[in-house]
Amino acid sequence: MHIAPSRQAFADAGAAEFARRAREAVEGHGRFCVALAGGATPRSVYARVADRQSPYRAQIHWARTWVLFGDERQVAPDHDESNFRMASETLLRHVPVPEEQVHRIRGENPDSQRAAEEYEEILRDVFRLGAGEWPRFDLVLLGLGADGHTASLFPGSPAARETARLVTEVRRNPGPDRITLTLPVLNNAAAVLFLVSGASKAEAARQVLGGGSDLPAAQVRPERGDLLWLLDGDAAAALPR
Ligand code: 6PG
Repeated sequence: MHIAPSRQAFADAGAAEFARRAREAVEGHGRFCVALAGGATPRSVYARVADRQSPYRAQIHWARTWVLFGDERQVAPDHDESNFRMASETLLRHVPVPEEQVHRIRGENPDSQRAAEEYEEILRDVFRLGAGEWPRFDLVLLGLGADGHTASLFPGSPAARETARLVTEVRRNPGPDRITLTLPVLNNAAAVLFLVSGASKAEAARQVLGGGSDLPAAQVRPERGDLLWLLDGDAAAALPR
């Protein structure tokens, strides 16, 4: 767990971890597969990764990087609420990652179940999965909702109890629906990094990090991987010293 003392330190620590995991993955097995988080918090981290003045951009072997997404809203890719749009604007269009190695979730599909099935096929293809195999991301970035959700796994939602599928649709009322990676996929990653900022997250962070919580974010415990938390001071304010 790392608590960043400033906004700049938050962005820097997130970008440094991103670059470190990318380097280690390429050195270790020839490529880096990352799942990006949505929401507002990762923006500064993505921008720092993409920043030509930062040391991180040049440390990443972009030709050997595959970019996927942890979740998406059922909206078009140019919509304000699209996670793909946010990631494009802050990161993807500023770095030389090959376009064919960026796999977005097709939120524009009016059939969210079909969009989830299609994304599962993409995962099977990118990770060359056989029947019954799970993808192993080198890094999964996640956010935390004030209600304890992560990715689009909301408290009480059947999606948060899914154990068979890699990707599932999430019915939201009010909408839009979502499409999300499932817990077994998150928990099969080599590393998961939560990016959490703001006072509205403090109570959820306390519950999730305190142990014994059944909130979705507390179910993220990589079985053979690292669990990392990067918080700002406001988000960490309720944690025991
Ligand atoms: C999303 C994310 C979601 C997000 C949290 C935190 O697409 O919104 O999947 O899980 O990470 O809601 O969002 P903020 O960073 O905007 O607070």
